[in-house]
Formats: sequence, structure tokens, C-alpha cells
Amino acid sequence: MSRSDEVHAFQIQVSPGGDTFRCPGSETLLQGMVGLRRKGIPSGCRNGGCGICKIRVLTGHVSKAGTMSRAHVSLQQEEQGFCLACRVKPLSDLKVEVLGGMERALGQGRGWPTWAQDR
Ligand code: FES
Repeated sequence: MSRSDEVHAFQIQVSPGGDTFRCPGSETLLQGMVGLRRKGIPSGCRNGGCGICKIRVLTGHVSKAGTMSRAHVSLQQEEQGFCLACRVKPLSDLKVEVLGGMERALGQGRGWPTWAQDR
């Protein structure tokens, strides 16, 4: 199915920054954003493992589209709306807050070179 065939897409508002994009319910938030060449949510492995795309859903609902690393999103956090943008699809319009990103990953010493951790 091409993007023009998508019947229902949801409005995604990203903070900080206030960027918005439309994401089909058939795609993860990260797929939808990258497909439009937008950059509001940091992108890494796209496989639920690195945590760079961690967000918190402030309003609206999502469905899980795969496993999320518990190293990055605990069960308790998941219940509070935290998730990985590469592992959730929108069920409604959303407002999300970006929590992950390269700087946080570097600061947590996840196997990055020491020169990068000393920033
Ligand atoms: S991009 Fe790595 S967990 Fe989502």
C-alpha cells in the first residue's frame, strides 16, 4: 500500500519543539516520521533496542508493535506512557515528549567510546 492509499493518519505533535507530522495507523511513529523526512524524534536502531527514540505519550493512545528493551522502558514506565517510538503505532492523534537521544545514551555509558562519554 502506498502512502497515498492510507485512509487514516493521525496528527503527531512532538515536544519540545512543537514539530508535527501525520502518521498512518499502520506505521510506527518512527516509520511515519522518517517516511516524511521529518526529524522531531531521534532515530537509532529502529528495532526497540537502543532507547534513543524513547518518548512519553502525553495525550492520546498507541498500540505496541513489538518488544521494547526493558533496559530503556520498564514495565512501570510503560504503564505511565513511556515507550519507544520505533515500537508503537498511533491509535489516535498524539502529543508526545521526546526523552531519548544521543546525548542521553552517551551519558549513560552504553558501550560508546570513552572520548564520547567524557563530553
Ligand atoms: S530507534 Fe533504537 S529503540 Fe527505537
